[in-house]
Amino acid sequence: MLNRFTEKTESKFSRRSFIKTGLASAAVATLPGCDSQIDVQVRRNLKKPVGIDDAGWKNVRSQFILDKGITYMNNASLGMPPAVVAEAVCKGYEAISKEPLHGKHDLQDNITKEVIPNLAKTFGAEADEIVLTRNASEALHLQAIGLELKRGDEVIITTQEHPAGHRPWMFRKEHEGVRVKEVFIPSPLDSEDDVVSRVEEAISRKTKALSFCHVTRGGHRYPVKKLVAMARDRGLLTLVDGAQAAGQFPINLHDLGCDTYAVSLHKWILAPAGTGFLYVRQDARKRIRSAFAPDPTLEAPGFDPPGTKDFPVRAAIGAALDFVNTLGLENIENRCRSLSDYLKAGLAEIKGVKLLSGHTPEISAPGSTIFEKEGLDAIASVPMMEERIKTHIDEHQRDSHNAIRISTHVYNTKAEIDRLLEALAKA
Ligand SMILES: Cc1ncc(COP(=O)(O)O)c(C=O)c1O
Repeated sequence: MLNRFTEKTESKFSRRSFIKTGLASAAVATLPGCDSQIDVQVRRNLKKPVGIDDAGWKNVRSQFILDKGITYMNNASLGMPPAVVAEAVCKGYEAISKEPLHGKHDLQDNITKEVIPNLAKTFGAEADEIVLTRNASEALHLQAIGLELKRGDEVIITTQEHPAGHRPWMFRKEHEGVRVKEVFIPSPLDSEDDVVSRVEEAISRKTKALSFCHVTRGGHRYPVKKLVAMARDRGLLTLVDGAQAAGQFPINLHDLGCDTYAVSLHKWILAPAGTGFLYVRQDARKRIRSAFAPDPTLEAPGFDPPGTKDFPVRAAIGAALDFVNTLGLENIENRCRSLSDYLKAGLAEIKGVKLLSGHTPEISAPGSTIFEKEGLDAIASVPMMEERIKTHIDEHQRDSHNAIRISTHVYNTKAEIDRLLEALAKA
């Protein structure tokens, strides 16, 4: 998308004058261009996909404006929004640029009356249980900092937490004397029951809460419902990192039963960058504090980070939700699963490849696949694949792996996977 904007700008100005005039004039020069270019794309109607094969998802694929020749397989890092989402952001910025006062109010209204209720409906929650954040990291900080704990109280986390889920606890350990116990979880996971029993065994009389991923950075899926039920029986709170889970499969937060849940919307939900939310279950308000309100009440808990918001970006979450809900989250799950199954089958044919993703759907997410290849440095493989086949992938040098992470979403195709497999075989 950026290339399109730059191309448009460069046709009007020389590259030097573009750089000289700076970002402000770039925005002025590109916004109308962005509007008209994307419009062409969004005129095509999104149709509900049929089945799981590429043919049935062709129309869905055509909704993305990825530059020709590029393949994107790093969705777990940052989702690739469809044209309608890019257009919604542009339109929002036009609105606050052309008529700032009404533009802002209209966007605010839309966020309160459409976006948040729609999020609540999609994720099986009430609108007042959701506050928007800039990303999952912010939500993870708010839920960890908000938990009422005193010196010596214990929180259990696992060894596969993302730094965003780990660092807030290190803060509380350093500054408040909270005990943080890290439970080792093997990668790949052994079974759902193995995860539950490892966590359960670590619980002590000091334990007050469990904090863990729904889907790890490497795509391992924890049994959230079972962990929550086990914790509930013991009076413990559960704080969940849903950054990699939201958008890969249907999630009903009330049914999961956890007390808080932190979400990235700019990954699998395909919303604009800088979007996420924090869910706090109504009944958990007694034990989770707001970091912002001096006088919270159960009716007005004050979790919402104050200050001026990125209204155009937040309002555009609505376009992403419409998009994924038109496809259907179950369809998305099945399509993602079929693509990663195809990838895994191909990887199994390559000499020296060791698959590290779990072998059953219960313990592996549909879209992310991790593996090692003998003699291939995972970090070096990222620019290598970009150079050789213009394909964006990621590394996963964690959990003592030298792993490559491929995260395929509904827009990827078997042909793209074949090209990647061929390049990996030669690498
Ligand atoms: C498991 C997990 N948690 C949290 C995050 C942080 O997400 P965000 O970039 O939305 O803050 C990531 C990002 O990759 C992640 O993989």
